[in-house]
Amino acid sequence: MPSSSAAGPSEELADRQAGRVAPRLVLPDGPHYPRLVQAWLWLKRPTRFLDHCSRAYGDVFTMRLPLGMNLVHVTDPELVKAVFGGSSDVLRAGQANAAILGPLLGPHSVLVLDGPEHLRQRKLILPAFHGDRMRAWEATIRDITRAEIARWPTGKPFALRPGMQSITLNVIMRVVFGVGESACQDELRRRIATVTSIGRDPLLLLATRDRRLGPYAPWARFIRARDALHEALADQIRQRRHAPDLEQRSDVLSELLLARDDEGQAMTDDEVCDELVTLLFAGHETTATSLAWAFDLLLHHPRVLSRLIAELDGGAAEYLDATIMETLRVRPVIALVDRHVRQATRIGGHTIPAGTVVCPNIYLTQRREDLYQDPAAFRPERFAGQSLTGFGWFPFGGGIRRCLGATFATFEMRIVIPEVLHAVALRPASRRPARIRRESVTFVPHDGARCIVTARIQPAARQSPQPDLSTPRPDLWHGGGRARRQLHRGHEQPSRRDSGSRATSQLLRRATAQQRSTPTYCGDAWGRPWAGTAQQQHVQQLLVL
Ligand code: HEM
Repeated sequence: MPSSSAAGPSEELADRQAGRVAPRLVLPDGPHYPRLVQAWLWLKRPTRFLDHCSRAYGDVFTMRLPLGMNLVHVTDPELVKAVFGGSSDVLRAGQANAAILGPLLGPHSVLVLDGPEHLRQRKLILPAFHGDRMRAWEATIRDITRAEIARWPTGKPFALRPGMQSITLNVIMRVVFGVGESACQDELRRRIATVTSIGRDPLLLLATRDRRLGPYAPWARFIRARDALHEALADQIRQRRHAPDLEQRSDVLSELLLARDDEGQAMTDDEVCDELVTLLFAGHETTATSLAWAFDLLLHHPRVLSRLIAELDGGAAEYLDATIMETLRVRPVIALVDRHVRQATRIGGHTIPAGTVVCPNIYLTQRREDLYQDPAAFRPERFAGQSLTGFGWFPFGGGIRRCLGATFATFEMRIVIPEVLHAVALRPASRRPARIRRESVTFVPHDGARCIVTARIQPAARQSPQPDLSTPRPDLWHGGGRARRQLHRGHEQPSRRDSGSRATSQLLRRATAQQRSTPTYCGDAWGRPWAGTAQQQHVQQLLVL
């Protein structure tokens, strides 16, 4: 890996005064096409464009977009670490996010704030997602998932992503907003759907901001839909403040209303409203799309699928965690995070001028050949028992801006994936995994992850109890005992659970044969020897804490 450095402006100044460096006040190299062409490639062919830039320009390159916007992409884990650890006064995430998300989320959103205001909001929100609280939501998530699966057609192709969106939206409504099944929930859902559908194309939105385009331009419709949503949420907040059981409730909204900052101040209604909208939009589509990617990848990798089913049947969750991590590595939903450079700063030997946006690039870093053998391949094995140090894997961003819902998202995925695999036998509707398509700021499966339910598995036909997915299993993570032996037995044989489905049995037979002929991956994703159970615990912590 090339040597690199990153330093704050004061160090830069000291270096310059001491004559140690001659600052290069030029942006890192990057493609030289016209800005409009680069914008088109970035919007329409994002992965091909990123792969090309990375091959041609290395660890740091500049993408030049219209209106003088320069994005400096960083793909070296050491530099990514330096950006995440840099001064939040100089590298401002809130300012960078506000450009696109501000109009939707509102001025108090934790995503668009910087400095002390950001830290205050973060501290107020964080306790609501504490591990103990989340465990109370497990049964709700399971029920929501089962109800959604019951609606899927049997024997006909359908896209999984909308189903996953419905699950994650219902989960947010129940566990974040604390809204039950009611007409009010339907109305809220309708308003959310309107904002989401108009907001799918942020560029079109921004391009139609001119009031002279009239009340039916996308921007004007978006503002009306956003205001209607804020109004519905403001109603919920007012009612909840006076709910007699406020202190006993386990939802996030109630927790936000009870939270106090260091001065003992509560959030205002406007602040709570902006945070609810933030949690809704940051948490709903991201988790749904990650789930859709997980199934798309699993169904196109029968060997992995059969091993996962076998291990779940054996009561183990270790391979499930590895599958989730590998999905988030090879198909990150958010390709990069942004930091607006407020003052000239040095990164990787370049002096980056004020006004530039620095982007730790999740997609490219997580596909580095020096970190991952055969990086485009889907191989959860690489995460089984691996220690994660550094920034070779950061689907949830990093530093003081790391995703506030990371634990919640992985908790939800750990429940939804086994729930689906225990309820239905699925096969892919296409021969190849879905292509990556850009939708707004996310990378999504181009066909919505189409699949077919080949059989429904009756609860009585399930062979083994579900593993406890909400808490770490010490017997597994400390590397021993009956459960581990069970896990290996399960690994050698396809699960009997699916015996009702001929298609699935065939799939599993084929998968097992393929598994025997495919050499098991035994390299270390991080270039070091396999490290054992202490690291397994570490991986578990990364997912669960
Ligand atoms: C698989 C699902 C998810 C992914 C991949 C994801 C990814 C991200 C990323 C990349 C960031 C930016 C971090 C940075 O700038 O360094 C972020 C921020 C954030 N996410 Fe998530 N997220 C997911 C789910 C959730 C959920 C479920 C919630 C809440 C319900 C949530 C709430 C937030 C919030 C509030 C922030 C802003 C944090 C801050 O600025 O301090 N996310 N997320």
